[in-house]
Amino acid sequence: MMNIKLHKNVRRALLAASAGIVLALTACGGEAAPEPTQAPVAPAAEPTKVPAAIVEKGKTVFNQYGCQACHAIQGFANGAVGPALDNLYTNALKTIASEEYKRSEGKATTAEEYIREAVLNPNAFVVAQCPTGPCPKGVMIQNFKDQISESELEALIGYLMTLGR
Ligand code: HEC
Repeated sequence: MMNIKLHKNVRRALLAASAGIVLALTACGGEAAPEPTQAPVAPAAEPTKVPAAIVEKGKTVFNQYGCQACHAIQGFANGAVGPALDNLYTNALKTIASEEYKRSEGKATTAEEYIREAVLNPNAFVVAQCPTGPCPKGVMIQNFKDQISESELEALIGYLMTLGR
Protein backbone atom coordinates (compact mmCIF):
# COMPACT_ATOMS: atom_id res chain seq x y z
CA MET A 1 0.00 0.00 0.00
CA MET A 2 1.36 3.32 -1.05
CA ASN A 3 1.47 5.98 1.46
CA ILE A 4 1.29 9.29 -0.34
CA LYS A 5 3.01 11.86 1.73
CA LEU A 6 2.44 15.40 0.73
CA HIS A 7 4.91 17.97 1.77
CA LYS A 8 3.23 20.16 4.35
CA ASN A 9 3.51 23.20 2.11
CA VAL A 10 1.69 21.37 -0.67
CA ARG A 11 -0.99 20.31 1.77
CA ARG A 12 -1.37 23.86 2.90
CA ALA A 13 -1.67 25.05 -0.66
CA LEU A 14 -4.32 22.43 -1.39
CA LEU A 15 -6.24 23.41 1.71
CA ALA A 16 -6.07 27.06 0.75
CA ALA A 17 -7.21 26.22 -2.77
CA SER A 18 -10.24 24.27 -1.56
CA ALA A 19 -11.09 27.08 0.83
CA GLY A 20 -10.93 29.35 -2.19
CA ILE A 21 -13.38 27.17 -4.07
CA VAL A 22 -15.80 27.27 -1.15
CA LEU A 23 -15.51 31.05 -1.07
CA ALA A 24 -16.05 31.25 -4.79
CA LEU A 25 -19.14 29.06 -4.54
CA THR A 26 -20.49 31.18 -1.72
CA ALA A 27 -19.89 34.29 -3.78
CA CYS A 28 -21.83 32.75 -6.67
CA GLY A 29 -24.89 32.43 -4.47
CA GLY A 30 -24.74 36.07 -3.47
CA GLU A 31 -24.66 39.14 -5.59
CA ALA A 32 -22.14 39.25 -8.38
CA ALA A 33 -19.12 41.31 -7.46
CA PRO A 34 -19.24 44.61 -9.36
CA GLU A 35 -16.89 44.79 -12.32
CA PRO A 36 -14.16 47.33 -11.70
CA THR A 37 -15.29 50.44 -13.54
CA GLN A 38 -13.07 51.13 -16.48
CA ALA A 39 -11.79 54.62 -17.11
CA PRO A 40 -13.47 55.94 -20.25
CA VAL A 41 -11.24 55.57 -23.25
CA ALA A 42 -10.35 59.06 -24.36
CA PRO A 43 -11.35 59.59 -27.97
CA ALA A 44 -8.34 61.87 -28.28
CA ALA A 45 -5.82 59.05 -27.88
CA GLU A 46 -5.68 58.51 -31.63
CA PRO A 47 -5.95 61.99 -33.09
CA THR A 48 -6.13 60.81 -36.68
CA LYS A 49 -9.17 58.77 -35.75
CA VAL A 50 -11.11 61.51 -34.00
CA PRO A 51 -14.56 61.24 -35.57
CA ALA A 52 -15.70 64.26 -37.56
CA ALA A 53 -18.67 64.72 -35.24
CA ILE A 54 -16.35 65.02 -32.24
CA VAL A 55 -14.18 67.55 -34.07
CA GLU A 56 -17.28 69.59 -34.92
CA LYS A 57 -18.47 69.45 -31.32
CA GLY A 58 -14.96 70.41 -30.16
CA LYS A 59 -15.01 73.49 -32.38
CA THR A 60 -18.39 74.49 -31.00
CA VAL A 61 -17.12 74.05 -27.44
CA PHE A 62 -14.03 76.11 -28.30
CA ASN A 63 -16.20 79.04 -29.37
CA GLN A 64 -18.78 78.52 -26.67
CA TYR A 65 -16.17 78.95 -23.93
CA GLY A 66 -14.58 81.97 -25.57
CA CYS A 67 -11.25 80.35 -26.38
CA GLN A 68 -11.17 82.20 -29.71
CA ALA A 69 -10.98 85.50 -27.85
CA CYS A 70 -7.40 84.71 -26.88
CA HIS A 71 -6.15 81.99 -29.22
CA ALA A 72 -5.55 81.91 -32.95
CA ILE A 73 -6.19 78.86 -35.13
CA GLN A 74 -5.70 79.47 -38.81
CA GLY A 75 -9.01 79.88 -40.61
CA PHE A 76 -10.96 79.49 -37.40
CA ALA A 77 -9.92 81.85 -34.59
CA ASN A 78 -8.01 85.12 -34.34
CA GLY A 79 -7.23 85.70 -30.66
CA ALA A 80 -3.78 87.10 -29.95
CA VAL A 81 -3.51 87.01 -26.16
CA GLY A 82 -2.46 83.39 -25.70
CA PRO A 83 -0.26 81.27 -27.96
CA ALA A 84 -1.56 80.30 -31.39
CA LEU A 85 -2.76 76.71 -31.30
CA ASP A 86 -2.02 75.69 -34.90
CA ASN A 87 0.87 73.45 -33.90
CA LEU A 88 -0.51 72.45 -30.55
CA TYR A 89 0.01 68.70 -30.84
CA THR A 90 3.67 68.98 -31.89
CA ASN A 91 4.30 71.79 -29.43
CA ALA A 92 2.75 69.80 -26.62
CA LEU A 93 5.16 66.92 -27.23
CA LYS A 94 8.11 69.32 -27.30
CA THR A 95 6.92 71.02 -24.15
CA ILE A 96 6.53 67.88 -22.06
CA ALA A 97 10.03 66.80 -23.09
CA SER A 98 11.54 70.15 -22.08
CA GLU A 99 13.56 70.95 -18.96
CA GLU A 100 11.22 73.87 -18.19
CA TYR A 101 8.27 71.51 -18.13
CA LYS A 102 10.08 68.99 -15.93
CA ARG A 103 10.81 71.75 -13.45
CA SER A 104 7.18 72.91 -13.48
CA GLU A 105 4.19 71.45 -11.68
CA GLY A 106 3.01 69.89 -14.93
CA LYS A 107 2.39 66.15 -14.80
CA ALA A 108 1.48 65.33 -18.39
CA THR A 109 3.27 62.53 -20.22
CA THR A 110 1.24 62.62 -23.44
CA ALA A 111 0.00 65.42 -25.70
CA GLU A 112 -3.54 64.63 -24.65
CA GLU A 113 -2.73 64.92 -20.97
CA TYR A 114 -0.88 68.15 -21.64
CA ILE A 115 -3.86 69.72 -23.41
CA ARG A 116 -6.21 68.58 -20.67
CA GLU A 117 -3.91 70.03 -18.05
CA ALA A 118 -3.51 73.29 -20.00
CA VAL A 119 -7.29 73.75 -19.94
CA LEU A 120 -8.07 72.49 -16.43
CA ASN A 121 -4.99 73.59 -14.51
CA PRO A 122 -3.35 76.33 -16.57
CA ASN A 123 -0.86 77.37 -13.91
CA ALA A 124 0.73 73.92 -13.70
CA PHE A 125 2.89 75.11 -16.58
CA VAL A 126 2.83 78.58 -18.06
CA VAL A 127 3.84 78.75 -21.73
CA ALA A 128 6.84 81.01 -22.31
CA GLN A 129 5.97 82.92 -25.47
CA CYS A 130 2.71 84.65 -26.31
CA PRO A 131 2.08 86.82 -29.39
CA THR A 132 2.85 90.07 -27.58
CA GLY A 133 5.71 88.84 -25.36
CA PRO A 134 6.17 86.51 -22.42
CA CYS A 135 2.92 84.74 -21.54
CA PRO A 136 1.21 86.23 -18.52
CA LYS A 137 0.38 83.82 -15.72
CA GLY A 138 -3.26 83.72 -14.62
CA VAL A 139 -4.68 85.18 -17.86
CA MET A 140 -5.73 81.84 -19.28
CA ILE A 141 -9.15 81.37 -17.64
CA GLN A 142 -8.59 79.56 -14.34
CA ASN A 143 -11.94 77.91 -13.75
CA PHE A 144 -12.88 76.11 -16.94
CA LYS A 145 -12.81 72.98 -14.82
CA ASP A 146 -15.90 74.23 -12.97
CA GLN A 147 -17.74 75.12 -16.17
CA ILE A 148 -16.95 72.50 -18.74
CA SER A 149 -18.53 69.03 -18.73
CA GLU A 150 -16.46 65.90 -19.30
CA SER A 151 -18.08 65.26 -22.69
CA GLU A 152 -17.44 68.85 -23.78
CA LEU A 153 -13.86 68.54 -22.60
CA GLU A 154 -13.31 65.27 -24.48
CA ALA A 155 -14.64 66.84 -27.68
CA LEU A 156 -12.54 69.96 -27.16
CA ILE A 157 -9.39 67.92 -26.57
CA GLY A 158 -10.25 65.66 -29.49
CA TYR A 159 -10.43 68.69 -31.75
CA LEU A 160 -7.28 70.32 -30.34
CA MET A 161 -5.35 67.05 -30.79
CA THR A 162 -5.89 67.34 -34.56
CA LEU A 163 -3.98 70.64 -34.66
CA GLY A 164 -0.34 70.39 -35.64
CA ARG A 165 -0.23 66.75 -36.62
C1 HEC B 1 -8.35 85.42 -21.56
C2 HEC B 1 -7.50 84.78 -22.53
C3 HEC B 1 -7.60 83.27 -22.70
C4 HEC B 1 -8.72 82.50 -22.89
C5 HEC B 1 -10.18 82.96 -22.92
C6 HEC B 1 -8.26 81.15 -23.10
N1 HEC B 1 -6.90 81.11 -23.02
FE1 HEC B 1 -5.74 79.47 -23.33
N2 HEC B 1 -4.10 80.55 -22.82
C7 HEC B 1 -4.07 81.92 -22.58
C8 HEC B 1 -2.72 82.31 -22.23
C9 HEC B 1 -2.28 83.72 -21.86
C10 HEC B 1 -1.95 81.14 -22.29
C11 HEC B 1 -0.45 81.01 -21.99
C12 HEC B 1 -0.20 81.04 -20.50
C13 HEC B 1 -0.45 79.71 -19.85
O1 HEC B 1 0.14 78.72 -20.29
O2 HEC B 1 -1.22 79.68 -18.89
C14 HEC B 1 -2.84 80.05 -22.67
C15 HEC B 1 -2.45 78.72 -22.88
C16 HEC B 1 -3.24 77.76 -23.44
C17 HEC B 1 -2.79 76.47 -23.88
C18 HEC B 1 -1.37 75.96 -23.88
C19 HEC B 1 -0.83 76.25 -25.26
C20 HEC B 1 0.55 75.74 -25.56
O3 HEC B 1 1.08 76.11 -26.63
O4 HEC B 1 1.09 74.97 -24.80
C21 HEC B 1 -3.87 75.81 -24.36
C22 HEC B 1 -3.92 74.42 -24.94
C23 HEC B 1 -5.00 76.68 -24.21
N3 HEC B 1 -4.59 77.87 -23.66
C24 HEC B 1 -6.28 76.35 -24.58
C25 HEC B 1 -7.39 77.15 -24.34
C26 HEC B 1 -8.74 76.72 -24.53
C27 HEC B 1 -9.16 75.37 -25.08
C28 HEC B 1 -9.53 77.75 -24.15
C29 HEC B 1 -11.03 77.78 -24.08
C30 HEC B 1 -11.63 76.72 -23.25
C31 HEC B 1 -8.66 78.84 -23.74
N4 HEC B 1 -7.37 78.42 -23.85
C32 HEC B 1 -9.10 80.08 -23.33
C33 HEC B 1 -5.14 82.77 -22.64
C34 HEC B 1 -6.45 82.38 -22.78
